[in-house]
Amino acid sequence: MRMVDLIEKKREGQSLSKQEIEFIISEYTNNQIPDYQMSALLMAIFFKDMTDEEITHLTLAMAHSGEVMDLTSIEGIKVDKHSTGGVGDTTTLILAPLVASVDVPVAKMSGRGLGYTGGTLDKLEAIPGFKIEVSESQFVDLVNESKVAVIGQSGDLAPADKKLYALRDVTATVDSIPLIASSIMSKKIAAGADAIVLDVTTGDGAFMKNLDDARRLAHTMVRIGALANRQTMAVISDMSQPLGEAIGNSLEVVEAIETLQGNGPEDLTEMCYALGSQMVVLAKKADTLEEARELLKEALESGRALEKFKEMIHNQGGDASIVDEPEKLLTARYEIAVPAKKSGVIQQMVANELGIAAMMLGAGRKTKEDEIDHAVGLKLHKKVGESVSEGDVLLTIFSNTEDVEEVIELIQANITIGETGEEPPLIHEIITE
Ligand code: URA
Ligand code: CA
Repeated sequence: MRMVDLIEKKREGQSLSKQEIEFIISEYTNNQIPDYQMSALLMAIFFKDMTDEEITHLTLAMAHSGEVMDLTSIEGIKVDKHSTGGVGDTTTLILAPLVASVDVPVAKMSGRGLGYTGGTLDKLEAIPGFKIEVSESQFVDLVNESKVAVIGQSGDLAPADKKLYALRDVTATVDSIPLIASSIMSKKIAAGADAIVLDVTTGDGAFMKNLDDARRLAHTMVRIGALANRQTMAVISDMSQPLGEAIGNSLEVVEAIETLQGNGPEDLTEMCYALGSQMVVLAKKADTLEEARELLKEALESGRALEKFKEMIHNQGGDASIVDEPEKLLTARYEIAVPAKKSGVIQQMVANELGIAAMMLGAGRKTKEDEIDHAVGLKLHKKVGESVSEGDVLLTIFSNTEDVEEVIELIQANITIGETGEEPPLIHEIITE
């Protein structure tokens, strides 16, 4: 097989076979295909697309390019949840203990932030002592004993994806649906998931800026999940404004605690129930979504979910006393209020720009090497659709420097106040096949 022939085949819009795709991924992972040929193929895929069969072969070849987690010694159906990315998305911190507290095993490998704000691992590391590096056998033991562990992704998980993602990033081939779908699904399969709940976000703060693209990505991933024998469903959720009220690592841990106490923001709480119910049904702990929601509500209202969060923190070496005293996490030196410049209704709070504002404070990374400041970020007091009077506090900046003029400018430029404004729907669609 010659790579140049395969590039030509795809350039002409033909389908690549399973053998051809496996050849490409294994040779590329082993440095036997140069980046210039792979770049040409990626661009051909970008323009000519792939069939569901091709995407499935690509996904499985990438999943098997490195270590594949064997979670068979964990009892029960392991359901993984994945979000395609958002701003202030605190759901994993809440869902892991919530779902585990109704006996669904949560064996979760998470990543660091790719975009402007921290990822789940960065947020967990805002908890003093919390360890995200756990051996595979310890990981399995923790989930068997306690139903929950959230750890860092093993370095050798889907190495083909790591190499390809870096190449896509510099060849303008990131936003291709077959390439995004295979990238995400290969990592879920390599991480050992039996079933997968996908949160496909859409809006300014998401990869997929419009609903049509989000829908296509969701359908593609659900179909390749089925072809790969992993029951998969997707929720298309709105990410035009940030989810919840907190953006920033410690602030989001506090928000997760408040939500597990039943005092969280309405949108975030509802999102956790919606995604959590799907997970509980896929894990076969409930027959219907309504039944699943009742189980989760009971776990949250009784305090069991909060206890599970404490247990998870304690198990992974963290200081669980922060659950009872979350104010210990609020260590930013300055709290600066940003007021409304006029009266009216909030029409827009552009999620990605507020994410960038949080990053400028130090809550996210500009480059991979940047260190995160866990204490800083934003706390929103108003959301789209709410009325405000001139001078009302729109949000509070948590900062370790007083020099936040640029951040305030960016925030003011991206919060629009007008005559009318409507709260966007939280969930646009649910896709099961
Ligand atoms: N997230 C991923 O893991 N891969 C992509 O290609 C895009 C988003
Ligand atoms: Ca949030």
